[in-house]
Amino acid sequence: MQTRQLQMIKEIDEVAIEEAADLLREGEVVAFPTETVYGLGADATNPTAVDKIFQAKGRPSDNPLIVHVATEQQLLAIVTEAPTYVEKLIAAFSPGPITYVLKSAGKVADVVTAGLATVGVRIPNHPVALALLQRCALPIAAPSANRSGRPSPTTAEHVRQDLEGKIAAIIDGGATDIGLESTVVDCTGEVPVILRLGEITQAEIANIAGTCDLYEPPPELHTPKSPGLKYKHYAPEVPLILVKDREKLPHIVRENQLARKRIALFYHSDIFHSLAVEKLVLLGNNETMMAKNLYAALRACKRDEVDVIVCEAPITKGGKSALLDRLGRAATEIID
Ligand code: TXA
Ligand code: MG
Repeated sequence: MQTRQLQMIKEIDEVAIEEAADLLREGEVVAFPTETVYGLGADATNPTAVDKIFQAKGRPSDNPLIVHVATEQQLLAIVTEAPTYVEKLIAAFSPGPITYVLKSAGKVADVVTAGLATVGVRIPNHPVALALLQRCALPIAAPSANRSGRPSPTTAEHVRQDLEGKIAAIIDGGATDIGLESTVVDCTGEVPVILRLGEITQAEIANIAGTCDLYEPPPELHTPKSPGLKYKHYAPEVPLILVKDREKLPHIVRENQLARKRIALFYHSDIFHSLAVEKLVLLGNNETMMAKNLYAALRACKRDEVDVIVCEAPITKGGKSALLDRLGRAATEIID
């Protein structure tokens, strides 16, 4: 299949949006930018179209997909009851990097929800995504636009690396702003429960909804040295050692050098910029920049160039952060 490339880095190209919307209406799959990561979209009401997402990604179909819509009205149309706190959350955070899990009204295909009674839905805050969703006027199921097991794509080039020739079109809207996937919040109970950490934090949600819980995986999934092995959603090509205690970092680097490993060092503290390693990557000077650059940095580490990634963990103020969560999932080893 020839994958059409639609350029929209500087401004919305209405003709190209119409072309992409037509493809979606015809049951084809189109990758598009959102504020978090690139999504791989298909008409959520058309099971044949949604199947094409799973085929292109090589994704197991027991993992439900997030449905994307342009407006609150469209969001409320595909769910049944929404607790009053949901309307407050929508007013506060949508369009934005937050996904609400609500009882499904049965309007989207069963393959989208993996047969669950609930549906995850969000309004992305990106002009290209919103223009496309408005134009096609359909709920669009869209997981991250990577091959299953790879980091989510934050540029159109990442999507091409994984899916060129397998999907109808890719809309290039430049690098995504946030770089990590949306906060997923279960809104089926009396209080919201975060299922996946993201840019919108537990404190921010609690501030609007009164309270907000964080889902903790069952204890058997906590294997402190290698949490990534149990419930990772992707593995970088190269093993990753996450170093939380930065005083230990030079020692970890030295140890791997002695073992003749070629090292990629992801760092943020200035003191490490002169360590002699094969690949030195300044992830960013703050969490926002680090989140934005992480997936591209992981993709750039190829097995034929480096043997191990040593990553200096971000300094978080005691709280749980999406960045630390994703790093933990990518890690093969964590040094506390
Ligand atoms: O930022 C994002 O959320 C990106 C962009 C493209 O919107 N999408 C994304 O989709 O990350 P995906 O498929 O890679 O991740 C969807 C997550 C999974 O962890 C899935 O289990 C959860 O959302 N999810 C979706 N529907 C759900 C439901 N009904 N109940 C519980 N979890 C659900
Ligand atoms: Mg994904």
